[in-house]
Amino acid sequence: MLKDLVENWQNEPTPFYLYDLDLLRQTLEQARTAATKYNFQVHYAMKANSNKPILKLIREFGFGADCVSGNEVKRALKRDFDPEHIVFAGVGKSDAEINFALKNNIFCFNCESSEEIEVINQLAAKQGKTARIALRINPNVDANTHKFITTGLEENKFGINIWELEGLLELLQNCPNLTLIGTHFHIGSQITDLNVFKNLCLRVNEVQQWFISREINLPHLNVGGGLGVDYYYPEEHLIPDFESYFSIFNEHLVVQPGQQVHFELGRALVAQCGSLISRVLYIKKGLTTNFAILDAGMTELLRPMLYQAYHKIENLSSQKPEIKYHVVGPICESTDCFAKDLFLPETKRNDFIAIRTAGAYAEVMSSEYNLRDKAKAVYLGQEVKTV
Ligand code: LLP
Repeated sequence: MLKDLVENWQNEPTPFYLYDLDLLRQTLEQARTAATKYNFQVHYAMKANSNKPILKLIREFGFGADCVSGNEVKRALKRDFDPEHIVFAGVGKSDAEINFALKNNIFCFNCESSEEIEVINQLAAKQGKTARIALRINPNVDANTHKFITTGLEENKFGINIWELEGLLELLQNCPNLTLIGTHFHIGSQITDLNVFKNLCLRVNEVQQWFISREINLPHLNVGGGLGVDYYYPEEHLIPDFESYFSIFNEHLVVQPGQQVHFELGRALVAQCGSLISRVLYIKKGLTTNFAILDAGMTELLRPMLYQAYHKIENLSSQKPEIKYHVVGPICESTDCFAKDLFLPETKRNDFIAIRTAGAYAEVMSSEYNLRDKAKAVYLGQEVKTV
């Protein structure tokens, strides 16, 4: 329980990110067991959290790395991910990033446009190499999630539309330095309705059929990530239901003989192991509600401000009757607000506040706006064994 830890933090500067490595380990264990059952391969979407102890643990569990920048590829290599298990996605890979990934012989580039394909072919030729590529196809499936984190609709910038495929196959005939090894799909993030994944499978089957009818056999199929977590009741669902998630794909995907299925999970693996710990700086009386002003703000956790995302907020220091607060940060922006009209036990200066489910897309999205110091990370639980 986080409340039991407060005594240890009296001299700890706030805000800080708190990561529970034991919970992370249990989460990885369950994800691995569920995926292994169907021989699915999981690449961790590093964009969710790229801290050293977290990456080390994930690598120890045998996951690959899903990267979206040259620096992520660099970080994955530095953390000893096998290049054969590194995939590189992203709608705007620069020449320098492509060159770096080519030089390091990563497993696959997930390509998002014909121009990108031509550029990778040219750069691979210059290095005297053949690059493995997968086509990221936009399946036009609604992820039923916040519109800012939906990626698989035709209106989104991501992926290649199905009607472009014919032309792309012609283009690939003229790209001797590329080998097409698979298709890639990712429809969005924080998906909690598992039916969405069934719809994805059905669409993927259609696309696979399209290739098969042209006698193109693709040894790899990557269905992306997106499994959501419970931001409302983290304690009740500390570990996502990986078993149900993977079994949907097992049930509905028509996998070709010898074909390897890949996943790219980020949030589901790391979100619940992290909390943002903050102190209350001031309580200020407002017109209708009091403001609880924290020393953490949108610089440490942007999700509520950017996506109207809900994160559970707990006062770890007070047991008093509840009062309504607007919980805000110190940044000079009106949007720097974590929650409005939230009932919290009566709160005072120096109380410790935990903002839960902050292991994914929190620290990685932090900024130095207002020239803020970077909040440090504190790790709970057994240290990672050195590899
Ligand atoms: N694969 C691709 C191609 C992706 O674009 C993403 C996430 C993932 C995998 C991992 O998705 P996950 O399993 O974590 O849902 N900052 C936003 C989330 C952006 C997700 C971007 N892409 C947030 O805080 O909700």
